[in-house]
Amino acid sequence: MQITRLIFKNFMGYKQLELPKANEELPEGLILINGQNSYGKSTILEGVLFAFFGSKIFSARNAASFITYGESKAEVTIFFTMDNKKYNIYRKWGRTGGTSTKLFEWVKNAYREIKNFDIESFFEISTEQALNTVFVRQGEVEELASKKGADLREMIIDLFRLNIIDDALSHLDQELKNQKYNKEKLEKTRVPIERIEEDINQISQENTTIKEETSKAYKKKEEYARKILSFPTDNLIKELETLYNQNNINMEKHSSYKSDFQNKIKNTSLSIKDFEPIENINERIKSLEEEKSKVVDLKEHADRERASTLRGLGITKGRIDENKSKIQKMTKSLDFEVKKDDTNKLICPTCHQELTKDHYDDMVSKFNKQISVDQQKIRDITNNLDKYNSEIKSYQTELENFANKLLVIHGLKDDYENYQRYESELKRTTNGLNTFLAKNKEKFKDPNPEKIKQLALEKKQLSTELIAIEKELEEKQKRFEKNESRKIELSDEIKQMKELEKSIGELEIEIDHINKAKEFVRRFVTEYMVVKRLVKNIALTTNKYIKDFTSGQYSDLLLDLSGTRKTGLSLKIKDNFNGVHESIEVLSGGDKTALGIALRLAISELMSTIRPIKESPKKNPKIDILLLDEPLAALDATRRERILKHLIKSKTFSQIFLITHTDIPSDINTHKIYVTKDHSTGISTANFKRETKLISSTLNP
Ligand SMILES: Nc1ncnc2c1ncn2[C@@H]1O[C@H](COP(=O)(O)OP(=O)(O)OP(=O)(O)O)[C@@H](O)[C@H]1O
Ligand SMILES: [Mg+2]
Repeated sequence: MQITRLIFKNFMGYKQLELPKANEELPEGLILINGQNSYGKSTILEGVLFAFFGSKIFSARNAASFITYGESKAEVTIFFTMDNKKYNIYRKWGRTGGTSTKLFEWVKNAYREIKNFDIESFFEISTEQALNTVFVRQGEVEELASKKGADLREMIIDLFRLNIIDDALSHLDQELKNQKYNKEKLEKTRVPIERIEEDINQISQENTTIKEETSKAYKKKEEYARKILSFPTDNLIKELETLYNQNNINMEKHSSYKSDFQNKIKNTSLSIKDFEPIENINERIKSLEEEKSKVVDLKEHADRERASTLRGLGITKGRIDENKSKIQKMTKSLDFEVKKDDTNKLICPTCHQELTKDHYDDMVSKFNKQISVDQQKIRDITNNLDKYNSEIKSYQTELENFANKLLVIHGLKDDYENYQRYESELKRTTNGLNTFLAKNKEKFKDPNPEKIKQLALEKKQLSTELIAIEKELEEKQKRFEKNESRKIELSDEIKQMKELEKSIGELEIEIDHINKAKEFVRRFVTEYMVVKRLVKNIALTTNKYIKDFTSGQYSDLLLDLSGTRKTGLSLKIKDNFNGVHESIEVLSGGDKTALGIALRLAISELMSTIRPIKESPKKNPKIDILLLDEPLAALDATRRERILKHLIKSKTFSQIFLITHTDIPSDINTHKIYVTKDHSTGISTANFKRETKLISSTLNP
């Protein structure tokens, strides 16, 4: 990397700075920045760092304090090359806080903005690392030389990012925890394969039993089915049963009507012959009816006679009563007339004519005669009535006899007819039954109704049992299939468990690996990396500088990083005068500064080249420049010269900016930036001057 040009506008003491002027570029190699105190030397390096990393590099100052007094905003632009590409970075910020940062890359013929860049990933270095390697602050060298072991150790650990080891360890711990958790989770779902196999075995056994039972049941089923087939069909059985039933009914009815008829006829003068043929009895009924109707006629006649006789009796009785009342009336009126007139004259109550006693008596005797005639008449009529009554009575009895006779004969006729009907019905059904049996004699070996009933029952029982067997077979089949699919499930489960066990095994291996990795990392830090390699490298690299910088007095730096954080690092250096390793506390101020520069240069150099482990890829650091702010202040001219010469020669860094306010020895011929300041305005200016003579000719005349 090489800074080629810088432009400041209102940056601290610089109102307007362009380095170098016109079309020139800052070269590679050592560039000294020279000028008196407070002229603005440090400002130049701060401007570079500010452009690259922003105000956070100066923790104690805010961005506004970098803006030139009285101005509202500042701008810095740094042009640089890196990996053969040209870039410039631009920062602008104001007092009120508005900031803008842009990175441009030269593509073809113009600078083009790189959008959304991140400076740390662009340089592949953290700001903190950059500050500790690229930039050596004013006073830092002296500080470094007198640093406490513990601080130095911390610094080295930070610089070399050994803290990533702690991060790695905690990452590994987390990973270990995760994998242990994963393993436990898997183990929770784990079922021993033997147990699943046992289940499969048990189910297989059950299915073998089911198979055996099924084949037995199947045989039984076939046997039953065969048996059922040998029976007559249900319809035939039913038909026969119906025929038997009808026949039985007819038989019963026939016998009941027959016995009714026989019982009834016993008590009559009739015999069965009288009913054969039935016309005979009809004839008899007819003649009885005729006789009966004659008697009815006679009786009706007698009834009529009696009624008219009764009427005659009534009339005669009325006449007697009339005559009696006439006599009575006459007697009554005779009495009345006598009393009233006191004469013997009588007045006829009917004709009102005068009546004589004789006439009266005559009248009464006439009446009485009539009465006695009528009384004789009544006696005659009564005799006639008695005759009629007895006549009617005997007709009545005769009619009742006819009615009884007819009732019996009709009853008998009904019974006879029923008896005859059921006899023919019975004949018909018996014939039907016999025809049926003749037709189906093969099917019904024993047509006995009882046997048929038994046969029907037997068939029904067999059918019921057959259905039960079929149901049982169906259930067994279902159970069998269920078991088979369960077996498949269980085999899958075994596969899963094998997978699970494999996964658990893999996790165990992984856990083992993580544990080993942790151990390895720990060992790597304590023994290999820190103690053996890194520290040795720092010591070796420092040694390269120290002997030169101390004019050969000191060499062989001993660094021991293996101490704890508390004890830190022990720093010893060999004094070549007495050959003893001294603790650095005994060194002079100048020696300490020389050691500090050496250590600092070694660290910067190593930072850019060291690979944590042998296998790490070798890559060139992106930033390989060095900004040294006044490292030589405490050194005498000889040591200053030695260090400068060394830096001019050094190829470790492609560009080194070194600030010094002291005079530069005359034989140090290198590029220079001269910084001056106008005391009346406080404005700084700087000018670049290229080296005039080749250094090689001075060093190697
Ligand atoms: N915001 C600012 N505006 C103008 N001038 C400023 C501002 N901030 C600091 N300065 C001036 O910049 C100068 C400091 O410059 P710088 O630190 O670069 O000096 P230097 O040359 O490194 O001095 P030394 O040799 O003492 O280290 C001071 O004189 C200070 O007054
Ligand atoms: Mg300074």
